[in-house]
Amino acid sequence: MPKKLKPSPSVVVGIDIGGTGTKGGIVDLTKGKLIGDRVRFDTPAPATPERVAQTVAKIMDELASRPECPSPDVPVGAAFPAIIQRGIARSASNIDKSWIDTDVDALFTKRLERSVHVINDADAAGLAESRYGAGKDVDGTVLMITLGTGIGSAFIHNGLLIPNAELGHLELDGHVAETQASAVARERLGLGWEEYSKRLQRYLSHVEFLFSPELFVVGGGISKRSDEFLPRLKLRTRIVPARLKNHAGIVGAALQASHGD
Ligand code: BGC
Repeated sequence: MPKKLKPSPSVVVGIDIGGTGTKGGIVDLTKGKLIGDRVRFDTPAPATPERVAQTVAKIMDELASRPECPSPDVPVGAAFPAIIQRGIARSASNIDKSWIDTDVDALFTKRLERSVHVINDADAAGLAESRYGAGKDVDGTVLMITLGTGIGSAFIHNGLLIPNAELGHLELDGHVAETQASAVARERLGLGWEEYSKRLQRYLSHVEFLFSPELFVVGGGISKRSDEFLPRLKLRTRIVPARLKNHAGIVGAALQASHGD
């Protein structure tokens, strides 16, 4: 007998673990929008696996107390700022090194007593933007670039995510690109918008040459100020700010978890 496929749930919890804040929400996947308010706690410092798991559990408890929260058998999605391969963290550029080789899916699943699926944070944001936001209905390659503590990237082709692109780690002029062109690098190096745009120009034209995308979507907190730098860039590729703002990670995490076990 052919196995009956379970329909994908349309309401799913998404949690986005960032360098400074960890946020969660209940996501209506028919709209790509949160139902009710987002919950946020500071990410603990040091952000060790046990302490982060505790923060994630606090968020889940708060969301579980709401009547709209899906039942415990619906998987939870989590976005995490590292390479994630089959639920395991394989890098830790801007987080505590003890995450390397941690089975993040297993750790959170045990702590939450709900099945948790983790995905790279930029991949989550890229999925959300390509389904509901700036990359919706775009054929060909969409590259999402998030400018934050590091540079995250998501590579999406005809709506399909090729995970763990890690384009922030391209080497440019002898440096890892994210150490020179992330939003935090701009602050650390005290760069004005003109100077910063020159760095982005150098970085994005290199990425453009390598992948010839149809569209760049720029995310991260700095995308709120995209008027300061996007008009200064000269690329053959259209480049637009992200639309889901700081909900993209939560929505994308929920979306990938809904695709099933
Ligand atoms: C990490 C990526 C992550 C990005 C944004 C980079 O340093 O290597 O995995 O997506 O930061 O958080």
